[in-house]
Amino acid sequence: MQQLRKVLVTRRIPLAGLRVLSQAAVCDIKQWNSDEPIPRAELLKEVTGAHGLLCLLSDKVDKEVLDAAGPDLKVISTLSVGFDHLALEDIKRRFPSKLCGEGNAGRGIRVGYTPDVLTDATAELSVALLLATGRRLPEAVQEVKNGGWKTWAPEWMCGYGLSESTVGIIGLGRIGQAIGRRLKPFGVRRFLYSGRQSRPESAAELQAEYVPLDKLAEESDFVIVSCSLNPETAGICNKDFFRKMKKTSVFINTSRGAVVNQEDLYQALVSGQIAAAGLDVTVPEPLPVDHPLLTLKNCVILPHIGSATYATRNTMSVLAANNLLAGLRGEPMPSELHL
Ligand code: NDP
Ligand code: DGY
Repeated sequence: MQQLRKVLVTRRIPLAGLRVLSQAAVCDIKQWNSDEPIPRAELLKEVTGAHGLLCLLSDKVDKEVLDAAGPDLKVISTLSVGFDHLALEDIKRRFPSKLCGEGNAGRGIRVGYTPDVLTDATAELSVALLLATGRRLPEAVQEVKNGGWKTWAPEWMCGYGLSESTVGIIGLGRIGQAIGRRLKPFGVRRFLYSGRQSRPESAAELQAEYVPLDKLAEESDFVIVSCSLNPETAGICNKDFFRKMKKTSVFINTSRGAVVNQEDLYQALVSGQIAAAGLDVTVPEPLPVDHPLLTLKNCVILPHIGSATYATRNTMSVLAANNLLAGLRGEPMPSELHL
């Protein structure tokens, strides 16, 4: 009989995924069965000798974790499409160069992730956040509750709508395109996008125009950040960027908090440099309840819920489990991140 592969699951995950792992009967599963992140010391202890690691975006998987795991670690499967929490360079270093490539599945450390299955949910949430921020929904609800609603007044609680607007998307990837597709029927006049390079195929449906970041900032009525976080995108939405935006523009970020310089964003919002911001992601997460951004009426902050529908999270957990199993078996993964 084949020896069971030791697997560490770093959080309580939807049962559907856990069932896939247990039913495969190839894993000896250890789980941090909590809604709280696994403490670092516990992660370092429990990962020792693991063949597989099913982790979350809140687990930093770096050299220390790889060292703690030891030489048996074959697969890291993250329950996310974002992989900025994984130290890919260190992971790659464990991958003997002559064994690189898909033909050598099962050798070295392989990485699985969850693209596509969360695109619709995240795009939907991004649109909801954009509308809530542009049309000031949280503030308006608050006014109803606190007696600020005295009468219907022509200039009270006015915001910004999408009709005839220019929308700029930073990162026209899977989610960026899905956001654009959903916004188009609202009457958007023009789509702009920026990224590492022009993507005519991705841009065709929206007839989106590839522009430098400066131009996107200057001409957009709504700026939406949907790029991945990497060394080139870290902090790109900073003082210079906000200074170029229109005073009437709305800024939305559903990618990763570190793409934005939050001190600069705070200043831009307080000084009226931009009209409003909606953030699903921040640094840190959770954002401390006394954070200055939380004092601003023109800043709507959500607790990183882009992919949070029951169906999507179930599907993500099943995909993450199947990625892990495929990695352990040396088979092609449903969604492998090619290093
Ligand atoms: P994709 O890989 O499809 O898209 C990533 C985009 O980032 C691409 O358009 C890419 O542009 C762009 N990008 C990468 N590097 C740069 C750069 N240096 N400058 C500008 N743009 C850059 O990923 P997804 O659309 O599936 O996901 C995007 C991100 O959204 C994830 O990485 C994750 O961080 C975040 N996310 C957040 C969620 C939430 O709950 N809020 C849920 C799901 C994802 P190019 O083509 O030019 O390289
Ligand atoms: C991701 O997958 O990267 C999100 O941030 C959470 O779904």
